[in-house]
Amino acid sequence: MAVAVIVAAGSGERLGVGRPKALVRLGGRALVQWSIDALAGVEAVKQIVVAMPPGADAPPGVTAVPGGEARSDSVRRALAACGPGDPVLVHDAARPLVTAQLARSVLAALEEEASADAAIAALPVTDTVKRVPPGSAVVSQTLDRRELWAVQTPQVFRRAALQAALDVPGDVLAAATDDAWLIERRGGRVIVVRSSEENFKVTTRTDLEVAELLLAKRRSRAP
Ligand code: CTP
Ligand code: MG
Repeated sequence: MAVAVIVAAGSGERLGVGRPKALVRLGGRALVQWSIDALAGVEAVKQIVVAMPPGADAPPGVTAVPGGEARSDSVRRALAACGPGDPVLVHDAARPLVTAQLARSVLAALEEEASADAAIAALPVTDTVKRVPPGSAVVSQTLDRRELWAVQTPQVFRRAALQAALDVPGDVLAAATDDAWLIERRGGRVIVVRSSEENFKVTTRTDLEVAELLLAKRRSRAP
């Protein structure tokens, strides 16, 4: 059986609404609640641990812990509060449009690929991506788009691999924008699972408006 970690302890600077992003209202609930409800519908997930902003109330039905300074700190703290269970599914509360079905498909991909340490939701990049050196405006390279994937969550890990990958100094944790990178940097094997555009990350106010519209559409289609 799996355990799930939801990281929801960020401050939401870029959203800029004066309170933590996970607590912002979206479609009549706290943003974090959408991810909790989606993962609660996954049969293989037997516990959900949420890293919450300091001082926030624990959402009902989950284990809550205070998050840390950096995102991966929050993952580490939440993992430390998880009971037994392997693999570990890690999800960002900032992706409220996640579905139980996507979580199941990432879990299934890792189960089927015995040689992998992690399976991660990702999408082929649709924009052309260019390299521009820091402090410059001059393009130095155009990357081959066929090799580029934009990475999302859920990310599913073999528990021992994730635990070992997170056991690194604070500066390394602070540099990690996703947990799969911590696996890669120690030579681990990470596979991508094709996800959907709807599972985008809410970062700005425009994102929040788009999420609101998509959730309203989803609700109107529900039986
Ligand atoms: N997160 C966390 N603990 C932190 C930082 C981030 O649990 N110390 C979580 C966020 O709550 C979010 C996810 O990691 O669900 C992805 O982070 P991001 O989208 O950057 O959210 P924020 O850090 O809240 O936003 P910003 O960077 O704009 O402040
Ligand atoms: Mg952030």
